[in-house]
Amino acid sequence: MLKSYLKQSKLVLFFRIFHEKLYEIKLYAKFIANGKRYKDPIKLRTDLMIRTHAIEKGMSMGSMKVGFGRPKVLSLINDLQHFVEINGDVEFVEESVSIINQYLIFNEKNGADMQEVRDHLDRLCERNCIIPQPSFGGILNLDFSETKRLSLLDFGTFSQSRYSIRDFSDIPIDLEIIKSALKLCERTPSACNRQSWRIYVFCSNSKRLKLFNLQEGCKGFSSKMQYGILVCGDLSSYNINELHQVYVDGGLYAMNLMYALHYLGVANIPLTMGHKQKYINNIKRQLNIPENEIPIVLIGVGSYKEKYKVAVSHRTDYMKYTQFI
Ligand SMILES: Cc1cc2nc3c(=O)[nH]c(=O)nc-3n(C[C@H](O)[C@H](O)[C@H](O)COP(=O)(O)O)c2cc1C
Repeated sequence: MLKSYLKQSKLVLFFRIFHEKLYEIKLYAKFIANGKRYKDPIKLRTDLMIRTHAIEKGMSMGSMKVGFGRPKVLSLINDLQHFVEINGDVEFVEESVSIINQYLIFNEKNGADMQEVRDHLDRLCERNCIIPQPSFGGILNLDFSETKRLSLLDFGTFSQSRYSIRDFSDIPIDLEIIKSALKLCERTPSACNRQSWRIYVFCSNSKRLKLFNLQEGCKGFSSKMQYGILVCGDLSSYNINELHQVYVDGGLYAMNLMYALHYLGVANIPLTMGHKQKYINNIKRQLNIPENEIPIVLIGVGSYKEKYKVAVSHRTDYMKYTQFI
């Protein structure tokens, strides 16, 4: 009797969840990349990675102000020097330097005066005996007809030809194509086949732009995207022992959706819904997302230009993070 009461009690459940989350608080407080960042090379690396990648992203956008981001790149160069001084991974610095070098070449080609940034980068290279690798990072210029051909070949070729797109054309995308992609995604695997995803396709101009503005990570290309597909997960599908499963199932769905869109020749990009809880609640309120649903990731959708550019987003060799045990 008591056991069954305790099992059903909301108050007991509250404290059980609280207990679970206490472990997480300890773990987060110890390991996430905030806090004492400038003393810890592993934490600082995370911050530098985000800031370095932002430069590549900027270059891959359809329209970007020539010479964009100078103050940010100057402060990034300063922090890379600090990173070396606290014994940060020099290979990472070489990669970042190569990306900054590509950024300089890109802007100089477009007529911007980048001398101040170049002087700072040269100083960083001289002090640390670094030579930028000419073919590392930056952007790739691609042809849609070739991408379309590759996306219909074997899985290896198909998957290696997918990129996040920030350079779109205005060719309209029929809603039927989006529906075909969603149909393919019905087969996404999920824990105990619970299929907890809840999908919102933002089609109307005003609602879509509202969503993109709230998301904040697509400034500079949001107006060119024709759909925003918000992948949410229903918390009611999970028990106390699987509090993060909603993100796993939703994440698998999102990857499947990106591949389905790629297969159908539709340009797309995953956009983070990683915000502080208060902000997420605000987004949910403004977009009428029910309280029991968690926004997981937003997929921005647009059409390809015949010739388009993408960020290289260099990948680490799998042998560097894989152990065979
Ligand atoms: C969960 C997630 C959130 C992302 N959020 C953003 C974003 O807000 N803005 C953006 O421009 N790119 C975003 N990206 C795209 C990544 O920058 C991109 O996937 C990564 O650099 C790898 O490049 P690729 O997708 O071209 O292979 C996101 C990717 C993921 C997986």
